[in-house]
Amino acid sequence: MTHLAAAPTPSVRVRAPGKINLSLRVGPVQDDGFHPLVTIFQAVALYEEVTAREVPPGSGVSLTVDGPQAERVPLDRTNLAWRAAEALAEHVGLAADVALHVVKGVPVAGGMAGGSADAAATLVACDALWETGLPRSELQTVAAGLGSDVPFALLGHTAVGTGRGHLLTPAMTRGEFHWVFATRDDGLSTPAVYGRFDELGAGAPSGDAPDEMPADPGLAEETGLMQALRAGDPHALGAALHNDLQEAALSLRPELARTLEVAREAGALGTLVSGSGPSVAALARSRQHALAIAATWTAEGAADAVWCTSGPAQGARVLP
Ligand code: C5P
Repeated sequence: MTHLAAAPTPSVRVRAPGKINLSLRVGPVQDDGFHPLVTIFQAVALYEEVTAREVPPGSGVSLTVDGPQAERVPLDRTNLAWRAAEALAEHVGLAADVALHVVKGVPVAGGMAGGSADAAATLVACDALWETGLPRSELQTVAAGLGSDVPFALLGHTAVGTGRGHLLTPAMTRGEFHWVFATRDDGLSTPAVYGRFDELGAGAPSGDAPDEMPADPGLAEETGLMQALRAGDPHALGAALHNDLQEAALSLRPELARTLEVAREAGALGTLVSGSGPSVAALARSRQHALAIAATWTAEGAADAVWCTSGPAQGARVLP
């Protein structure tokens, strides 16, 4: 008897990276509720993986999620991956019929843009599955409509972000930087951190607020950081790390101060709250040093989980 193998259902697997903001400068809230930013993103080698699988016409979108902390991820339209599939379908005039499967590799609600990476990976996966052939520039436009960090998850590597963080200029870097992250089981809501930032009056116009900077503010404020990146100098980069949201995150989660202190005591070249937190990042001298900082965090009970990685990492791309 001969067995005829059924043709496999077409599917596309894409991975997209999480990120750290090496520098994040935040201006006063605007009428649209957003804050103007000048930020330098670096993608790190912690990846979300999204598989988009063909389904019969009229099936709509479905979503399953796997991996550490998967139980904390919504499985409905509030998930950014689901919204990305719908946004792309609408953009190209197709029906949003796809089964999405996400494997989490980026800490959930940690200020590392894991949800944005899911959205970026979904855009690339559905674009390939549906053979829409959109140029990357057009995918970037759809990405910007989904969230401030989604365009960077598409682009990857290291980039200066302005506007809401969605207008990107790639930045030159040399070599590899070794990062270690301390995450907490309880995430922080990004709008809540921006709200506390406003309450603290931290975005009030001052000499270094983004809206008072010159037309190319990223580079004007960040000369030292950009030089450190170009030189591949982790000591100089450690000294230049900066996050305007750190005070707001620390005021919502005071225990993060101890996490920062423990990393400094373990010889980190620089430490900061990652984005809107509550993840804390430490820059290490080497992979071995990153492992040592991670071990110290664990021993001191200063983190619920630790993640060693490196940057820069590639943006969203199709896996073979
Ligand atoms: O764009 P995204 O959906 O990631 O933003 C989430 C929330 O974070 C926004 O609704 C807003 O409250 C806040 N935010 C902001 N300014 C930015 C980016 C985000 O106030 N530049």
